[in-house]
Amino acid sequence: MTPSPPIQWNYQNMMADRIGAKDGITEEEYKISFPWLKEVYQNFIQDRTVGRVSCLDLPYADGVVEQVTALAKEVRGQSDFFLVLGIGGSALGGIAIQRALYPVHYNLLSKKDRGGGPKIFFIENIDPDEIASLLDVISLGKTTVNVVSKSGETLETLAQFLLIENALCKKIGKRAASTKFIITTDPTAGTLRKIAEKEGYRTLDIPEGVGGRFSVFTPVGLLPAAVSGVDIRQLLSGANDLNYYFNKCSLEENGALMGGFFAYLSVVHKRRNIQVIFPYSERLVGVAGWWCQLWAESLGKARNTEDKWVWTGETPISARGVSDQHSQLQLYMEGPYDKTIQFVRVESVACDLPFPRSRTEEAFRLFSDHTLGGLLRIEQEAIEATLTTAGRPNCRITLPRLDAYSLGALLYFFQYQTVLTAMLHRVNPFDQPGVEVGKMEIRKRLGIRKK
Ligand code: PA5
Repeated sequence: MTPSPPIQWNYQNMMADRIGAKDGITEEEYKISFPWLKEVYQNFIQDRTVGRVSCLDLPYADGVVEQVTALAKEVRGQSDFFLVLGIGGSALGGIAIQRALYPVHYNLLSKKDRGGGPKIFFIENIDPDEIASLLDVISLGKTTVNVVSKSGETLETLAQFLLIENALCKKIGKRAASTKFIITTDPTAGTLRKIAEKEGYRTLDIPEGVGGRFSVFTPVGLLPAAVSGVDIRQLLSGANDLNYYFNKCSLEENGALMGGFFAYLSVVHKRRNIQVIFPYSERLVGVAGWWCQLWAESLGKARNTEDKWVWTGETPISARGVSDQHSQLQLYMEGPYDKTIQFVRVESVACDLPFPRSRTEEAFRLFSDHTLGGLLRIEQEAIEATLTTAGRPNCRITLPRLDAYSLGALLYFFQYQTVLTAMLHRVNPFDQPGVEVGKMEIRKRLGIRKK
């Protein structure tokens, strides 16, 4: 018997019988492309067997949880602040976990209410204003700094590191400062690896073949999570169990595969090039940001794996339910028919707020017998129904609750789906040649010669 998956999905509102043949996928379109889906899936399984999709095997990695947990314990014992430096894929996964699983105002809580953990900050940019302001409010001498970069060469991360390392050395001296750094990077290559070896900084490895946007289940995402007290075993279990389910179920029951297939059909048959992620949970806003980067950098490609011009990719947009009902929704209801809306919702909220019956005005009567969580839920259902009636394609992913286990499954789902969608379009999800061109121009302008 097929096990049940840790999260649910529903693609019915993508189909022609729900939203009409102009924008919905027709039976015929589905059938025409299904053999290609089967072939791609076979190739995907083959690639996984020979270790070419190692990011999807990470939840099984030996020894990582123990190593990360031990280091996190050290950090919690040593520090009042934990500062993560990195950019793009080397930061967004950690931020997504932080936003989803730490108590909402974690850094404002007392140390006791933080479970003894340090305050945690991510610097994901090179805005001097942000960095200077942060240095005003943290005590550097009591800070552990986690520098995250797969390549160990990313200019922005090196810039952040240079400033913080210098400030820390000035504050507490070079010898004491050397106990404050943890470098998460490639096991052997890169400037940061060399510096760590020279200065005796502690290190964590990002495994071979795993780039930034697919690294959330490596120490990149796991260390900050463990430092804050997140149960990283549960996070990995959710991912693991979803993978187990995908290995057992039929193609049609594989939500990540079908989601990728619908995304592909939308581009190929409907020329629909925009995908909106619309979580109805403030806690999932970080996941939406992480997903946008994953989707954009993995699928937006000019050349395919046969080196032919393709210009493929859907533009990802992040919207927040319910707030963006009062901004972006007008565009989604009445603007061009070029978007798919992907709702993400949480079935049961951790803490709900029942409405009091303290006011008798007519405007408040609607609230009686409801809770704030119920209102959030009803609004999502209403907007989904409204979009469907308006012939606007949409789909939904549902988490039973927002905990480490379900979040692990969700992050895994999106990575699995992204790889398969890339394969359907015949593009490489793991490179980013366009980004490299930009990097070269920056180096040129800085006067640094390319190696
Ligand atoms: O997802 C990616 O590959 C990128 O966004 C990288 O994470 C980003 O460019 C930073 O690279 P690195 O981890 O090498 O510092």
